[in-house]
Amino acid sequence: MSTPLNISEIRKEFPILEEKVNGKPLVYFDNAASSQKPLSVINTISNYYLKEHANIHRGVHSLSQKATSRYEEVRDKLAHWIGAESKEIIFTRGTTEAINLFASTYGSDNLKEGDEIIISTLEHHSNMVPWHMWCKKTGAKLRIIPINDKGELELDEYVKLLNDRTKIVSVAHISNTLGTVNDVKFIIDKAHEFGAVVLLDGAQALPHIKVDVKELDVDFYASSAHKMYGPTGIGFLYGKAEILEKMTPYHGGGEMIKSVSLEESTYADLPFKFEAGTPSIADTIAFGAAIDFLAKYGIENIAAHEKMLHDYATEELKKMDGIRLIGTADNKAGVVSFLIGDIHHYDLGVILDQLGIAVRTGHHCTQPLMHRFQISGTVRASFAIYNTKEEVDVFIAGVKRAVKMLS
Ligand SMILES: Cc1ncc(COP(=O)(O)O)c(C=O)c1O
Repeated sequence: MSTPLNISEIRKEFPILEEKVNGKPLVYFDNAASSQKPLSVINTISNYYLKEHANIHRGVHSLSQKATSRYEEVRDKLAHWIGAESKEIIFTRGTTEAINLFASTYGSDNLKEGDEIIISTLEHHSNMVPWHMWCKKTGAKLRIIPINDKGELELDEYVKLLNDRTKIVSVAHISNTLGTVNDVKFIIDKAHEFGAVVLLDGAQALPHIKVDVKELDVDFYASSAHKMYGPTGIGFLYGKAEILEKMTPYHGGGEMIKSVSLEESTYADLPFKFEAGTPSIADTIAFGAAIDFLAKYGIENIAAHEKMLHDYATEELKKMDGIRLIGTADNKAGVVSFLIGDIHHYDLGVILDQLGIAVRTGHHCTQPLMHRFQISGTVRASFAIYNTKEEVDVFIAGVKRAVKMLS
């Protein structure tokens, strides 16, 4: 098991990894919730506030123009990163806001009683609750793709759900709880046969795999910077220009207008029509630094490293008595969810924390998925570029110690 990256050098870019937690060196395995930030991202934020801050898109003065071009350069960079056009990138606060934007604009413009929306059992609540809300408002019906015991979507059942009433298919690219990488190309192509529009929730995909929205032919794609080594509070919605053009705006306010009279407003062109108010400028610019970080090390190298950690952790966990791995799909990202015997996930998480090991416990914002497996939660370890095989050893030793204490 080798890794293509010099991890000890990369770790130096993440000062937080030097921290001690409860007197122990930090082992950070909660990357699916949010990854840590390299110095390039941290410094971009502080430099911006130290030397570059002004509001964007409105000033004639140099500082404002510089901030505007730095901000817009990130839109170009991100568009290039995912194979889109710049005007197809709408900055949002994150995946959740991106999905809500799509649901409340495309949804309210196009859904009517009797229409159908397809999601799956393994969705994060942020790709479920907005649909519950919009089904209630419009009378549309939600249809659910079931999963098998390995945590893979049952694609035969998906195909059976599609029909002329299907208007939207909205599914995760990668499951945050199980790590399942869904066959999204198949899902998109089948949905298009029925004229449905597809949104992919890419919150867990962009940190780990290369995504090309044009190759996928996906209509909408949502993600968050903070899982990609970037800041919190910034993410985006990609949408095909021809669909975005027809959609009504999300929020009304400054910057999204062409003209305003006392009686009415007309709206700006893409993408500004969807970006009302002063955005998170520093965080957007630092999102650019996060994309540079991913590009510098190569997403394929990062994926190979995380796969090595995943396979090793899985192999070691499998040796333990009473282990139950939740999510054993053939195609998986670097996420390991598990339970041991009848030990509560929370208790295991608390003891691991005492040992300096950060994992996530609970339902991971996927309660229906927990119901599917008839459990209340799992312990989830999720890996990133800076994690090491030695940390997996510390984690496994920690789990063994916790099991001894709790049994
Ligand atoms: C699959 C998935 N979708 C959506 C989200 C929501 O992302 P955010 O909280 O950044 O909006 C998450 C966050 O954990 C996620 O894992």
